[in-house]
Amino acid sequence: MSAFRDGLFDGWTVFVAGGTSGINLGIARRFAELGAYVAVAGRNPEKARAAADSIGRGAEGFSCDVRDYEAVRAVLERVHASRGPLDVVVSGAAGNFLAPVAGLSANGFKTVVDIDLNGTFNVFRGCYDLVRKPGASLIAITAGQAVNPMPFQAHACAAKAGVNQLVRVLAMEWGPEGVRVNGISPGPIAGTEGMARLAPTREIAEALASRIPLRRFGEVSEVAESAVFLSTSSAAYITGTILDCEGGSQLGDSRPRL
Ligand code: NAP
Ligand code: COA
Repeated sequence: MSAFRDGLFDGWTVFVAGGTSGINLGIARRFAELGAYVAVAGRNPEKARAAADSIGRGAEGFSCDVRDYEAVRAVLERVHASRGPLDVVVSGAAGNFLAPVAGLSANGFKTVVDIDLNGTFNVFRGCYDLVRKPGASLIAITAGQAVNPMPFQAHACAAKAGVNQLVRVLAMEWGPEGVRVNGISPGPIAGTEGMARLAPTREIAEALASRIPLRRFGEVSEVAESAVFLSTSSAAYITGTILDCEGGSQLGDSRPRL
């Protein structure tokens, strides 16, 4: 049950990079349900259009690769031209796979860093002069890999650690203009591409869930509620933080032991 009321974001403009599937689509959908105009962007134009159609309420889908600054900037300018200053910008595009460093090419490492970290720079740098000042809420979708080293995840660990630091630096640089910059670190979220890649079998998924203090994977809707919270006036004094929405996962293995 959501604590947020209908119409909360009436008249708001929200942009979600990587908002065409999974967690980010759930975030986009929730902002739209609460009244915002929402633009979602991904590489695949058909997927973007289908995502916008599934959201309804006037949502629009755009195509750009977050690794291409000019392409990201062009989409942000289109949204700004038609809808005015952006109230919320979410940077959630990411790529991931399991690979040991010894099985990872330089281009494989670079690809994930380019999407996750450089992509987040491109989205936030690209929106700087297009967001509402004061008042805008910028949110990066990061991951536990940013702080907890994980084998076969060197690329994601390095990229997301960079995302967390980028969030903190931008919070310092843009705070004086009334722009808040935060991150959300989801734990394992049920039914997502990310978990299909990192926990590909039911056995692995159940083993993972058994170690989480809340004993379950999270829901897309639960991450969406965190993004909504960070964008409301209830979070007006929160910037530069990484909000863990992960059932306590980062506390470590919570199974009883000696
Ligand atoms: P997902 O469904 O695969 O979503 C990824 C989104 O990013 C899609 O919209 C995809 O659309 C887009 N995208 C990928 N590469 C892109 C690029 N180069 N340029 C523009 N868009 C691009 O992933 P998810 O599992 O929901 O994860 C979403 C976010 O949550 C990610 O930041 C991930 O690191 C984070 N996260 C997920 C989990 C989890 O349990 N799933 C846990 C912790 C953190 P196109 O393919 O059309 O480009
Ligand atoms: N193990 C090792 N290396 C891999 C790999 C894997 N499972 N998958 C891809 N790579 C390497 C490729 O071999 C390539 O390196 P090379 O040129 O040296 O051979 C490099 O990564 C880029 O692969 P490519 O397929 O050209 O990249 P892309 O830009 O088309 O796609 C990915 C990016 C690889 C991240 C792709 O998985 C993707 O689009 N992911 C988006 C969805 C996603 O990951 N969702 C979960 C988010 S948490």
